[in-house]
Amino acid sequence: MGNGNIDNMDHNEIEINNSNYDQQQQEEEKKFPEDYYKIDKDLMYNHIRDFPIYLREAYNSLDWLKFDTTFSRLIIAGMGGSGIAGEVLKDYVTEKKNKIITIHDYELVDVNEQDLVVVISYSGNTEEAISCFKEAFSKGAKLVVITSDGKLSNMCREYRVPYAIVPQGIAPRAAFPYLFGNLLKIAFLAGFIQDPYEEIQEAVSTLTRRDLRPTAIEIAKKIENKPLIIYATPSLRAVAYRWKTQFNENAKHIAFFNELPEANHNEIESYRYLTNYFLIILTSHNEKHRMKKRAELTKNLASKYMPVVLFNAKDNKLTSILSMIQLGDWISYYLALWKGLDPTPTPLINEFKKQMGPFV
Ligand code: PA5
Repeated sequence: MGNGNIDNMDHNEIEINNSNYDQQQQEEEKKFPEDYYKIDKDLMYNHIRDFPIYLREAYNSLDWLKFDTTFSRLIIAGMGGSGIAGEVLKDYVTEKKNKIITIHDYELVDVNEQDLVVVISYSGNTEEAISCFKEAFSKGAKLVVITSDGKLSNMCREYRVPYAIVPQGIAPRAAFPYLFGNLLKIAFLAGFIQDPYEEIQEAVSTLTRRDLRPTAIEIAKKIENKPLIIYATPSLRAVAYRWKTQFNENAKHIAFFNELPEANHNEIESYRYLTNYFLIILTSHNEKHRMKKRAELTKNLASKYMPVVLFNAKDNKLTSILSMIQLGDWISYYLALWKGLDPTPTPLINEFKKQMGPFV
């Protein structure tokens, strides 16, 4: 990688059209690794590939939901692969950002009747999410749940709480486009965002045409066993966090996340003593001039000590966010394969939940 830089990798340029998608896909599958499906037994591949289809399906599936009032705040509670949907919504929103609160904990913040609380749990059995549901319900907040099944779906039926149902049988993080598509629709129906329909259409069409896998394979091969540091400028903060968690869960790979400008005020001092790390910086063409300069300078400084890749998103806001998420999903996927690991199972997370015992 020479000095370790791949300057301003612009994934707008990595486009293919629909007509050659199948052919190109088959060629790529032959190249890396030939027998990917022998490692990827639960076919995480299909979920990442079908990201845009899931997103559109989820957004269109909630037309039955109606709110007859307005809300002062949108509080989104959820953990891990479910909770990230709320963080990504915060990246997307501009106007009412300060009215959107995300919770990754057992307790909500001074919730009241004027709040809309959205509890997201793919399994429907996550205790922190169940605890937030109970609190919101007991304090009279308006509740909506996004889940595939589990205790939460039973509680919704019992307490007559509306819920969006997402397909069962996939890993929570692979269900992200479903969870996020539903959340976007709820945020729109509740008046927290403008109608995102056109932007969703554009994102779906771009993600369907664009093939990010060759870039993902190239980067995965360069990362190898190196611990990862992932930075983002403010507009892609949650995206960088999603990358970190996808590296953790798909590739079982250690990854750390930080934001710019904050990292410029502390973390950069450690570079001189890092050995064998790999830095990824995510930024967008929408960032202000001083922020762009920070990303560039960070890249230049870090590349003296470790390999650095800077991705610069150039689409409209929603497409940038979703395209970057899909790229991170692919890189973590191919890194898992490179390490010979099935991307889907998360045995330690499951074992941990088991050891926690029943939640009463
Ligand atoms: O990706 C995962 O499997 C985890 O991060 C889960 O999403 C997390 O443990 C919460 O579970 P659930 O999404 O079912 O609420």
